[in-house]
Amino acid sequence: MTDRVAAALTAARGDPGLVLVDGFHALKHALRFGAEIVVAATDDRAALERLAAELAPDVAETIGALVDERPLAGLVDRPHHTGVLAVARRPAFDPAALGPGPVVLLEDPRHLGNVGAVVRVAAAAGGAGVLTTGPRDPWDPAALRGSAGLHFALPVGRADPGAFGEWPLVALDPGGEPLGALPPDALLAFGTERDGLSPALAARADRRVRIPMRPGVSSLNLATAVAVVLYARG
Ligand SMILES: C[S@@+](CC[C@H](N)C(=O)[O-])C[C@H]1O[C@@H](n2cnc3c(N)ncnc32)[C@H](O)[C@@H]1O
Repeated sequence: MTDRVAAALTAARGDPGLVLVDGFHALKHALRFGAEIVVAATDDRAALERLAAELAPDVAETIGALVDERPLAGLVDRPHHTGVLAVARRPAFDPAALGPGPVVLLEDPRHLGNVGAVVRVAAAAGGAGVLTTGPRDPWDPAALRGSAGLHFALPVGRADPGAFGEWPLVALDPGGEPLGALPPDALLAFGTERDGLSPALAARADRRVRIPMRPGVSSLNLATAVAVVLYARG
């Protein structure tokens, strides 16, 4: 008999249209925000059903109907401690359809855990999307794990900031002017973890603003800076 879970995981490794959804919280959020699940598996159906009844009764029935029970060892390097994984279709991403609301632009982020944390806070705070530049795929499984599956809650994808000529561009820069009221539909640009914003993006910005910090502190963590700005805009 074909092992459809193993086949879907193998397909997901080579197909950018498929993503690994790793763990209970990622699956819960994926379902709440309309993900199309291709396969889902658990190594302990009874434990998963208890977890779902306790933490996500709204999607518990769907989870119960979706999962195959089977060993997870050997399918992925380190099975998630909640004993569940799934493969989902990656939603189509159209940068032209973004908004209304603030869109977070991460310039060449290096740490996929930071990308996931940014997606998570943008989903919570009502961000209209998260864009990235640079070589890293913002839908990498490590980023999806960091967002607890909240990639499905808002548009996330790679984009060229040049495609947003009409949007006010606000650059977050520890050397900028003090943070005040921001335009509601702005592109909020954050620099790379070590080097900050590129001179080209900083030069294109309509404003450069800073989050106040105690003297001696050089900068905030990237995802922390995004959280402050999204919640501070009111
Ligand atoms: C870890 S920081 C980069 C630090 C880099 N050495 C610099 O000077 O920009 C990553 C990004 O978070 C944002 N950031 C961090 N702290 C900030 C602050 N206090 N004010 C404004 N932006 C900040 C900036 O966009 C920065 O490029």
